[in-house]
Amino acid sequence: QTVYLKDYKPFGYDIDSVQLDFDLSPHATRVKSRIAFRPKPTSDRRFFLHGEQLKLIAARIDGAPVTPQVNAQGLMCDVPDGPFIWEAEVEIDPANNTALEGLYMSGGMYCTQCEAEGFRKITYYPDRPDVMSVFTVRINGPHPVLLSNGNPVSQADGVAEWHDPWPKPAYLFALVAGDLVAHADEFTTKSGRKVDLNLYVRPGDEGKCAFGMQALKDSMKWDEAVYGREYDLDIFNIVAVDDFNMGAMENKGLNVFNSSAVLASPETSTDMNFQRVEAIIAHEYFHNWTGNRITCRDWFQLCLKEGLTVYRDSQFTSDMRSAAVKRIGDVIDLRARQFAEDQGPLSHPVRPESFQEINNFYTATVYEKGSEVIGMLRRLVGAQAYAEALDLYFERHDGQACTIEDWLKVFEDTTGRDLGQFKRWYSQAGTPRIKVEDNWNSNTYTLTFTQHLKPSATTPDPKPQVIPIVTGLLAPSGQEVVASRVLELTEAQQSFTFEGLTERPVPSVLRGFSAPVILENKRAQEHAAFLLAHDTDPFNRWEAGRELARDSLLAMIRSGAAPDLGYLDGLAKVLSDTTLDPAYRALMLALPGQTDIATALHDVGETPDPDAIWSAHETMIEAQATHFAELLPALFAQNQVREAYRPNAAQSGQRSLANAVLRLLCLNDGPDRAQAQFDTADNMTQQLAALAVLLRANAGKDALQSFETQWKSDRLVMDKWFGLQVMQAAPADVAETAQALTQHPDFNWKNPNRFRAVFGSLAAHHAGLNSADGAGYKLLADWLIKLDPVNPQTTARMCAAFQTWRRYDAERQALCATQLDRILAVPDLSRDTSEMLERIRGDR
Ligand code: ARG
Ligand code: ZN
Repeated sequence: QTVYLKDYKPFGYDIDSVQLDFDLSPHATRVKSRIAFRPKPTSDRRFFLHGEQLKLIAARIDGAPVTPQVNAQGLMCDVPDGPFIWEAEVEIDPANNTALEGLYMSGGMYCTQCEAEGFRKITYYPDRPDVMSVFTVRINGPHPVLLSNGNPVSQADGVAEWHDPWPKPAYLFALVAGDLVAHADEFTTKSGRKVDLNLYVRPGDEGKCAFGMQALKDSMKWDEAVYGREYDLDIFNIVAVDDFNMGAMENKGLNVFNSSAVLASPETSTDMNFQRVEAIIAHEYFHNWTGNRITCRDWFQLCLKEGLTVYRDSQFTSDMRSAAVKRIGDVIDLRARQFAEDQGPLSHPVRPESFQEINNFYTATVYEKGSEVIGMLRRLVGAQAYAEALDLYFERHDGQACTIEDWLKVFEDTTGRDLGQFKRWYSQAGTPRIKVEDNWNSNTYTLTFTQHLKPSATTPDPKPQVIPIVTGLLAPSGQEVVASRVLELTEAQQSFTFEGLTERPVPSVLRGFSAPVILENKRAQEHAAFLLAHDTDPFNRWEAGRELARDSLLAMIRSGAAPDLGYLDGLAKVLSDTTLDPAYRALMLALPGQTDIATALHDVGETPDPDAIWSAHETMIEAQATHFAELLPALFAQNQVREAYRPNAAQSGQRSLANAVLRLLCLNDGPDRAQAQFDTADNMTQQLAALAVLLRANAGKDALQSFETQWKSDRLVMDKWFGLQVMQAAPADVAETAQALTQHPDFNWKNPNRFRAVFGSLAAHHAGLNSADGAGYKLLADWLIKLDPVNPQTTARMCAAFQTWRRYDAERQALCATQLDRILAVPDLSRDTSEMLERIRGDR
């Protein structure tokens, strides 16, 4: 059942064209296919086509009926020597497709999700990304809107035909049919092609389209300006779907989005929601070149398109908003998700070498670490060489299904660099740890770095990697004496010297988080305090504050120390520095997450106590409230936005600072201010933040009720209502709160967004999930068992909540093991979930 990269073999046939004919019907959709196969010289005269959960009605080769051998994975059939036409008719049941993979129904509409291996649930086909062809699709059904990939050929009552001129793998196929309304616009590409843009939504959601459409136009413009990439069809359609396993999907010319990742309005969406919509629209659009025009040879190469496209969308967001704020946010996320993955039982290389279920490898490592690897490559070769390499990549590989080797080769060819060692970033799992030591000797300053990668199951014998460490030096006065430069660490241990300095400098290393590594040795407290006050690199300045916060929390947990006054004083200066972006100050004020603190303890061999971490966090927040008491009212007042709501960076930053301050003010002065904000807010950002503060203060009962009354017919807002109650619950109440919410009439657990609202929030509540009585583990296990037969993909993704279970004390481990074993013992557990849980349960 395990698939290996080393076993890759090309498919024995090329496909010249594909014609698909759909007769839509909820329980008996008929799909007719007509596929022109051309055997390669090496192919044998028997072929295999993938196919799952299909009822084969008829099959013909060159018009003559054939009887293939069918099993649960597909069919085998004898085929002619030369080119031939394969025709098949199958029947499928979209209305019963709760797994949301293949053709399924959501709120009365038909839609598809084919990546990675969903097309085989639509018809028999070589469902692998290296088989590319031109598709023509005809859809018959009594729906006003009938969509597929490419350009429209004809539209009439109850039938539409689409033709996609660009050869593509089956995973990029899409079909949508339903009673939808379009928010229409247009875009003219720089070479003058007029493109019709449509955002299709269910009636009632028309008012939530404008922002996503603007984001699409911004993305199209940006990709032309920065990467020279133009759109290549006459039409670009996006469809919003309520039931969706992931964020969105880049099907050629017909992107399908989870409605949470595209619909947005000020009244119903937070600033964070707007940012996410903008980033995901960009991400899916950018896939048109990095993913669709150039795709992956096989699924082991997933990072080829995902790492690059995440990198591209992060560049876009940095350009549209604040680069520093974006970078800090990305690093917080990387540490919380990717580092956790890389340090636990789910650790795998950016390019994995084996899997059972590919859907389990749409991970933070493939996506986010994959993006970091590209950022490092750009840092190493420089922006100019990066641009040249990308031009060559698009020129050389357009229309192909490629590998990481192809990708690195364009860099080697443009720069003359040997990237053999760099390639280890793709093959070695785990997070490298860096130690830095410095030396000052007769005006020569030396930085010595050592790198270490812990051996793991997939990387038993790690070798040194190429690590770009961006470094600057500051004089004791705070003046920068050596500007940022890239130190290229390639050895296990390596020194870099700086001459011509007159006094011992303070180093600022790993600026901008220039590599996804852990800097291990603790800086002296004064060092971090100095950088918090003076560093010219916004990332490292933030990092210094975060380090002080973390160290103080650790001391509080270990020895009951009081919150560090040095940290609080340094932070007070930053908070009142009005030359700093409010968004940046809000990030400074935030504390490291509780899971991060648990990781820090686990890292040095200590057993984290979730309750102690929770209490330290609470104590620190109270200390912030007390320490900043004088500052807070003014800070709150200064950051009230007077103009009409706009989700731009400037306003969002002010609101995020004001809302962080609101929480502290509530501790000092009680909940009145929060209640007032809740009552008068004209946007979701402020309404929801106020509700969160009220719930935290145990003063949110009425607000919660009125919020529900106000929003009960808005699915996306109600997801927030469900989630927030779990997030804001005290540790001992989390499982009970979640359990109670599952009894709510609107808890539609088959909808992934609703399921995640409750259980994703439970999983993210560190002290609640890991409560000492095991109630968190048990409740999550109950519901994963219930969801698995209905939706394996979403179940398997949620299993990652258990990945840290071995960190905790023996009692918690035993409680968790019981639940893991209980799930694993379920008969017919999906391949998705069993692979995840076997890896997590493990046996280290
Ligand atoms: N390619 C999509 C994206 O990153 C993700 C789709 C993954 N879906 C899945 N079922 N694994 O934009
Ligand atoms: Zn993607």
